[in-house]
Amino acid sequence: LRRLSERYYPHLHIGTAVSTIPLLSDAQYARVLAQNYNMVTPENAMKFQFIHPQPDRYAFADADAIVDFAERNDMAVHGHTLVWGEALPRWVTEAAFTDAQIQRLLADHIATVVGRYKGRVASWDVINEPLQPFAPTLRTDSPWYRAMGEDYIEFALREAHRADPAALLYINEFACEERNAKSDGLYRLARRLLERGVPLHGIGFQLHEDLTDEHKPISAEAFRENVQRFIELGLEVRISEMDVNLHQHDSPERLQAQARYYRSMLELAADLPAFSGFSTWGFTDHYSSLQAWWEPEGFGNGLPFDAKIMPKPAYDALRQALVRR
Ligand code: G3I
Repeated sequence: LRRLSERYYPHLHIGTAVSTIPLLSDAQYARVLAQNYNMVTPENAMKFQFIHPQPDRYAFADADAIVDFAERNDMAVHGHTLVWGEALPRWVTEAAFTDAQIQRLLADHIATVVGRYKGRVASWDVINEPLQPFAPTLRTDSPWYRAMGEDYIEFALREAHRADPAALLYINEFACEERNAKSDGLYRLARRLLERGVPLHGIGFQLHEDLTDEHKPISAEAFRENVQRFIELGLEVRISEMDVNLHQHDSPERLQAQARYYRSMLELAADLPAFSGFSTWGFTDHYSSLQAWWEPEGFGNGLPFDAKIMPKPAYDALRQALVRR
């Protein structure tokens, strides 16, 4: 995949989320990763709970392993994520900090993490999932919002920019691919920030989709119509976490439908220069958050490589999307 995108669509990084355990223990995983992708997003290693487990202790080993691997293999790193209401350690959620202390610890966290990877992590999900799951208003249940209100977003973006002025700074959100109340809210948030001169450079659209008898995923056309207005604000955009969950419906026909769906989205991203990246949330069903987390029974089957890390029809479809048109 990466050779095709580098040749024909150099604006577009082809990426995937990666986990440290298989990266360090499964040679086939590492080989397929380096052959096909030129961008990685640490799936968990840079989240607050893992990288900053104690007030005065950072744990960089897992994130370092991913960044080192990326450098050795000439891949970009997209950092995930600095500010989120989840994946927080108890010392942040359970201690009784004053608002000023919360603000200070967030500033230290951002300066330390972004500073460590300055010049090595090209772009960051500074803000992850700031909105309510299915509403246009902000989530209010995080320590960041409770201490600072909406200002936490501007504050975090400015701190990240200060720590690495060359890094591209993103807000990453789900359920915003098509035009709906939530994507309207995201659009207004982005516009407000840009009007105030806040260093926001891009929006990540996650694209976690289900493809079942009961559920039709959103179309590339609907996504294109919606994403246009974000591009017109001068932002770059990326597909940040795509997977296409088939649940138990994994017949050959369904795998073909999954393939067509992947292809339609990658063609859209390849054709619009404002897309900086196309990333899936993992690449093999063997190490997929659909198995590990949402679907402990073993359903999922949402990624372009199967559980033996062999290419599925979706992989061929992604290659076809990257052939020059
Ligand atoms: O590694 C620890 C282990 O040490 C611990 O004993 C065990 C007990 O809880 O948990 C293990 O960590 C889990 C981690 O995944 C690694 O497997 C966390 O509990 C679990 O919460 C975590 O889930 C991750 C989830 O985000 C929450 O952070 C998923 O792997 C990850 O795929 C998922 O990714 C999110 C994006 O960050 C944001 N968008 C949605 C996306 C998919 O849900």
